[in-house]
Amino acid sequence: MWDTSPAIRYGMSASRMTVREAAAALAAGQLVAFGTETVYGLGADATNADAVAGIFAAKRRPAFDPLIVHLADASDVRLAVADWSDRHRRLAAAFWPGPLTMLAPRGPLIPELVTSQLPDVAVRVPAVASARELIAAAGVPIAAPSANLFGRISPTTADHVLDQLADRIDGVLDTGPCAVGVESTVVRVPDEPSQPVRVLRLGGLGLDALAEVAGPVERAADSDRAELTAPQSPGRLPQHYAPRVPLALLSPEEIASHAPSPDVGLLAWRSGRDGFGSVEVLSPAGDSREAAARLFAAMRRLEASGVSRIIAERVPDDGLGAAINDRLSRAAAS
Ligand code: TXA
Ligand code: MG
Repeated sequence: MWDTSPAIRYGMSASRMTVREAAAALAAGQLVAFGTETVYGLGADATNADAVAGIFAAKRRPAFDPLIVHLADASDVRLAVADWSDRHRRLAAAFWPGPLTMLAPRGPLIPELVTSQLPDVAVRVPAVASARELIAAAGVPIAAPSANLFGRISPTTADHVLDQLADRIDGVLDTGPCAVGVESTVVRVPDEPSQPVRVLRLGGLGLDALAEVAGPVERAADSDRAELTAPQSPGRLPQHYAPRVPLALLSPEEIASHAPSPDVGLLAWRSGRDGFGSVEVLSPAGDSREAAARLFAAMRRLEASGVSRIIAERVPDDGLGAAINDRLSRAAAS
């Protein structure tokens, strides 16, 4: 499958592009990464099955893992979905542009490869203005998974993208570091308002904020068999978001009593300790938003620091804390 990646076909190395260049590349079926408020996405024309196949090849992504379709504006949703309920509309009005991805029946312009043959397509409008300009200028909905190799840590800067994918993609739109830092919250929205909105992946929109508009919200457990078979949601695979060195997720008490060692990297919530090979503190002020924005870059620095294992401190579950713990527990399971 490798030779289907455009950059490999042309033997080039991806570079930074302007919005115009990036839009022209996407419209021509090429692969362009771009920043969003959550993480960098690897974009392709969502209506072009060949271009979409290139995403799977470049990321080494299994074909059972469906892609999120990105739109320039909520009014473009009809380009991607066949049906959009009042409840979808209400949630879009409240949270778009922003880190909420909603499932709805797939529209005829979207090839089945995008949804891994599932009946629903995932859609969202990203909050970074130049990402929306890019999508509008490309003139088509843009399929974009996180711009990392499958199963690895998502990129929150353009350099992270180029580190892993420079020889596999055509370009990157550098929009600076991602403000939210964890992927979007993915939800299924039943038509019937009395039925809870089901959260398939915790993410950048906290559950309290979601519930204020959505009404009852229910977390789909990873053990929920109905949703672990089709529709499979690989962002929920127990092994995901993996650093290259083993990571253990520990309680604050276990962290406090852990013997320091130069072999061990410490990913701490509010304060570090001396004696470890490398130390990253997520938020001295105890702010889960700040912590989420720093999480993936901190994990990358720890894995690059030469330590042979990482211990990570579980964070409080409120705000974006649950999404942070979710990513850490998946990294620990790898
Ligand atoms: O914040 C984000 O969501 C980022 C940026 C680039 O938008 N994208 C992202 O994409 O995280 P990705 O491919 O790494 O994660 C997409 C996940 C899938 O793994 C799956 O869990 C869920 O979204 N998903 C997408 N389409 C789905 C579908 N049709 N049914 C069920 N789950 C779906
Ligand atoms: Mg991903």
